[in-house]
Amino acid sequence: MELRDFARQILESPSIDAKLVPFVGAASDEAPGLPERPAFPARPPELLFCGRRESPPMPRPETFVEPRRRAVAHHIMANHELQALEVMAFVLLAFPEAPPEFRRGLIRVMADEQRHTRLHLDRLRELGMQFGELSVNGYFWNKAQEFRSLLDYLAGLPLTFEGCNLDHTLEFETWFRQAGDERSAGVMRAIHRDEIQHVAFGLHWLRMLKSPELSDWEAYTAHLKWPLRPEKSRGGTFHRDPRLAAGMSPEFIAKLEALGEGAGDGEKERQGE
Ligand SMILES: [Fe+2]
Ligand SMILES: [Fe+2]
Repeated sequence: MELRDFARQILESPSIDAKLVPFVGAASDEAPGLPERPAFPARPPELLFCGRRESPPMPRPETFVEPRRRAVAHHIMANHELQALEVMAFVLLAFPEAPPEFRRGLIRVMADEQRHTRLHLDRLRELGMQFGELSVNGYFWNKAQEFRSLLDYLAGLPLTFEGCNLDHTLEFETWFRQAGDERSAGVMRAIHRDEIQHVAFGLHWLRMLKSPELSDWEAYTAHLKWPLRPEKSRGGTFHRDPRLAAGMSPEFIAKLEALGEGAGDGEKERQGE
């Protein structure tokens, strides 16, 4: 299967099941084609993007003892995982000139995002909800429209959104466990482990593609598009260990840690901003 066809299957199929079919057969990238930037991914009518203020905010962790509130959290996170997958498919179409090893590596990350989406979908169904019951926003997709280069993508998605998720996955793991929901806590732990690899993948390619005279930090910050900024790559509680495991240098981690807490998107979503 051509990588481009896989990307199209994800972006042009409204069916969630079709989007979540893993890559089949041997990967071929013989025909990456001309750059294309689809404006929106196809989705079922009930899962089309609405404005950020029209989608429900992330429930506060104190309410997680109620199964319905945990289902809302999984619904929001399923939409995040699905958007990560759709943004990666967008990147395959928008940057056909990207190094072939990057494009093949991205397919492996996309398999994880498909699995993460399914984990949240299974959990929200077990908690009595259907995907599409709540409105969803297109925050991550909309941000991706501003990526004009692969470095913009690397700074924005793997190093900021997935970087932030290193903290958020652990926060949610703790909150679900405190609510007595070990299954949901286990989902967050599994996603956390994969996310370390996704950040590592982004960091590897930032180092491969940046100007050699720039530090990791300089290249990262130079490619962030406002309002994305380094503060958005950390959650309320900052974790050094997963960042070290992802290959960030102690200097890079110290700069992130010094920024102060709680400016990440999960926090904003919790506040309904
Ligand atoms: Fe994910
Ligand atoms: Fe990820």
